[in-house]
Amino acid sequence: MLNVLYAGRPEGWAAYRPALETAFAEEGLEVALSRDHPPAEVDYIVHAPNGPLRDFTPFVRARAVLSLWAGVESIVDEPSLRIPLTRMIDEGLSEGMVEWVAGHVLRHHLGMDRHILGQDGIWRGQEVPPLARDRQVAVLGLGALGRAVAQALAALRFRVSGWSRTPHRIDGLDTAHGPEGLAEVLARAEILVLLLPATSATANLLDADRLALLPRGAVVLNPGRGSLIDEAALLAALDRGQVGHATLDVFRTEPLPPGHPFWAHPKVTVTPHIAAATRPASAARVIARNVRRDRDGLPLLYLVNRAQGY
Ligand SMILES: NC(=O)c1ccc[n+]([C@@H]2O[C@H](COP(=O)([O-])OP(=O)(O)OC[C@H]3O[C@@H](n4cnc5c(N)ncnc54)[C@H](OP(=O)(O)O)[C@@H]3O)[C@@H](O)[C@H]2O)c1
Repeated sequence: MLNVLYAGRPEGWAAYRPALETAFAEEGLEVALSRDHPPAEVDYIVHAPNGPLRDFTPFVRARAVLSLWAGVESIVDEPSLRIPLTRMIDEGLSEGMVEWVAGHVLRHHLGMDRHILGQDGIWRGQEVPPLARDRQVAVLGLGALGRAVAQALAALRFRVSGWSRTPHRIDGLDTAHGPEGLAEVLARAEILVLLLPATSATANLLDADRLALLPRGAVVLNPGRGSLIDEAALLAALDRGQVGHATLDVFRTEPLPPGHPFWAHPKVTVTPHIAAATRPASAARVIARNVRRDRDGLPLLYLVNRAQGY
């Protein structure tokens, strides 16, 4: 019998309990799943940053921390965490992210606001929207989510560039990598999608200098992390028209405080960190498969590289 501790969001327990129990049973694992096992008796920890657990010191027997979140910045540097940490790669997360990004890219590409907000009785039949094949989109981050998003946009026939830390070849995309590849990707990004993790290397990546490299009037979509953007620089770029619109799902402080200038800015759309949520049924299968692998002596999937921070 394995003791698995659920240390996710307390409100998630009602959904995760049956999902995890089913997934463990499907993997043929005998598991006692609880929110309050004695720490020294826990074998695996299912974790989320909005759950109750910060100090891993008392979990002397645990073999791994299995995160329910894709972004692990809040525990990646935790000194009491000395066992392997895995992050969440889940089809529900990827599909949600593809849909959020595709929806917001199409909003801006087609200029939908003109018609949704401007029902003024004037027939503007000559204003035909452009085709995706004539629109350049750049996706920064080509991991599980960025790659899925870039490929979906390419399938819609957008001209897609992608950027990552290490080189990738992906059919249908122009790819670049490393600091030297960023400027050329930004220079042709009419719509820019940020899907990088929050690390020390990506903090304030989109600062005043980099915003100035974008084509004038570019649209910025950020479903990655709030720390990727220098907020003051973005507001200044919006005010001078260098950036045409910013659609932001993630923020340095969440919930975004009611008085934050993003809420009232006419060129900013705020969505409340809903671009992609971990779905209990599919995420539970990912967790159970990883525990099964560990029991079988196989390497854990989706291990976080603690040195790189993601
Ligand atoms: N808004 C939401 O609801 C939501 C939901 C889930 C996730 N997220 C965010 O989305 C992020 C991405 O998720 P993921 O699963 O796609 O992550 P991932 O698989 O770890 O991919 C991260 C990508 O970023 C690239 N990268 C990392 N550091 C870089 C740097 N310094 N310079 C250039 N590229 C760099 C990586 O390059 P390499 O390929 O070379 O390693 C990789 O392509 C998460 O970290 C999380 O913050 C948001």
